[in-house]
Amino acid sequence: MKVYVSRKLPGEVMAVLRKPLQVCCWPGEEDVVPREILMAEVSHARGLLCMLTERVDQELLDAAPSLKIVSNMAVGYDNIDIDACTRRGVLVTNTPGVLTETTADLAFALMMATARRLPEAQKFLLETKWSNWAPMLLAGKDIYGATLGIIGMGRIGQAVAHRASGFGMKVLYCNRRRNEKAERELNAEYRDLDDLLREADFVSIHVPLSESTRHLIGQRELSLMKRDAILVNTSRGAVVDEKALCRALEDGTILGAGLDVFEKEPLPSDSPLRTMENVVLLPHVGSATVATRIKMGRLAARNLAGFLLEGRAVTPVNAEALAR
Ligand code: DGY
Repeated sequence: MKVYVSRKLPGEVMAVLRKPLQVCCWPGEEDVVPREILMAEVSHARGLLCMLTERVDQELLDAAPSLKIVSNMAVGYDNIDIDACTRRGVLVTNTPGVLTETTADLAFALMMATARRLPEAQKFLLETKWSNWAPMLLAGKDIYGATLGIIGMGRIGQAVAHRASGFGMKVLYCNRRRNEKAERELNAEYRDLDDLLREADFVSIHVPLSESTRHLIGQRELSLMKRDAILVNTSRGAVVDEKALCRALEDGTILGAGLDVFEKEPLPSDSPLRTMENVVLLPHVGSATVATRIKMGRLAARNLAGFLLEGRAVTPVNAEALAR
């Protein structure tokens, strides 16, 4: 029973993919499997363990008649055409839960780094520009006691809210549905998106990318934000209209942005974001700790092996595919 793994993964992850599975693996750790190789490899595969860099669409499914499961090593699955998989009876799984706290840590770190201008300050020092202490040198924005607006109060949004309480922040949130448990336990107040944007000093995005969240934050939404507000995005780049964001950062509509995700990844070399001083840019490392990446890999592998060998996946996305 052939399964294809689209990236070189640690030994403790691969160990989950036991016999009788025949495991073929793209040998690259950092480079993405070329599309034509992926298409050829899945043509006889029963399972695919892939990354968010692989597009699983109708074309790939057509090339993979024996495919039964696509196990994504990510919580987000906007790289996969779920409807097409469901129609074909292909189960999709993701890796929720295991990366919640790690991603929330990163969102908070990015918010702090942007507010306190950490990369800019380090660059200043390394470039030997630091000649004296000065009253307003590299002065940033306070986090303690500020208002944090969380867009998307799922697992990661709640974990960010939890951290905010230690910083004496007032927490606002918006979500498809009100989350009364979060309101009680995290002292979070519900707002609609426009009011949240108007009131928050920091806005942190934690929604998945879907047709309803694509460009959720565009020119209109940015113009509602305070002029000294900071936007943080650790979800998916396309939730924000990046062109509108660049304009807002250039013309002072908002103060700054901390971005771990972009509309096009890797961030193109000619992106105007690269030359702005009021942004902190990271290469999509929200869940990147050794322990968490191993947990994500093991969960993805358990989903794949569990389903193919025992008929049970731990974290299915489209269980309805199995009814077909
Ligand atoms: C995810 O899991 O969706 C992240 O973006 C990668 O950790």
